Amino acid sequence: MKSKMDTRSIGVFDSGIGGLTVLKELEKQLPNENFVYLGDTLNFPYGDKTKEEIIKLSEKNIKYLISQKVKLIVIACGTATSQSLEIMKSIFDIPIIGIIEPTVVYVKKMNLEKIGVIATTGTIRSGAWEKNLKQEIPNIEVVNRACPLLASIAEEGKAKSQESLEAVHEYMEIFKENNVDTIILGCTHYPIYDEIIKNEFSNKVNLVNTGVAVATKLKQYLHENNMENTGEKIETKVIISKEEEDFDKKIKNILKSAKNLDITKFY
Ligand code: DGL
Repeated sequence: MKSKMDTRSIGVFDSGIGGLTVLKELEKQLPNENFVYLGDTLNFPYGDKTKEEIIKLSEKNIKYLISQKVKLIVIACGTATSQSLEIMKSIFDIPIIGIIEPTVVYVKKMNLEKIGVIATTGTIRSGAWEKNLKQEIPNIEVVNRACPLLASIAEEGKAKSQESLEAVHEYMEIFKENNVDTIILGCTHYPIYDEIIKNEFSNKVNLVNTGVAVATKLKQYLHENNMENTGEKIETKVIISKEEEDFDKKIKNILKSAKNLDITKFY
């Protein structure tokens, strides 16, 4: 039987540019799919908000993406995944994928005894990474570190500044002390620091990019549920809720090879 094709877009959201690191991997692994990306810059940062606030924002973002007629939602934000995924799944009648579960599946194959997790304050406070990791890999030791400054520095386009180098240096201390050689980038802004973090460990560290794991899961999900777009890709649309300086430049920097990129400000 020939599979039916589903040309509807995939909705993706984050508090700002961070989720674009996930979208970049989705674009790579799913070249035929159309995307609508919402960067909720108006409410950035999510990292220090309460669980109640995160739930409200996730609900609003998902409602907006549904109004754009998407077929599936990817919560490309660690903070929103850790504190609102289960509730969103219970409210909405649309498939929703977060960044934690696919990454845990990916990490399980690495057969590790110890792993580091860096994320926002809210994500670390929720304990979601540790809980999910231990459920799948019971004996794994998890070393957590909240990095409250990193998302904001990246959002301001200053990931290569002195401030950034100093913050990364301080945040990585705990992993050096504990001989951790694999670290999950548990906030989607952090792949922007990939090189800086690797330099901090003289390249002797493995960084787990959640986008790669999410793309693998999404590809499998679309295939199994007959939801793939087997036709031509039309566009990747990026929408932000508040104007941010040089946002176009920042988007293009991350999504270098996005096909038919349409950037719309304000919704
Ligand atoms: N990129 C987001 C995350 O994965 C949110 C960062 C923030 O808004 O504080 O956690």
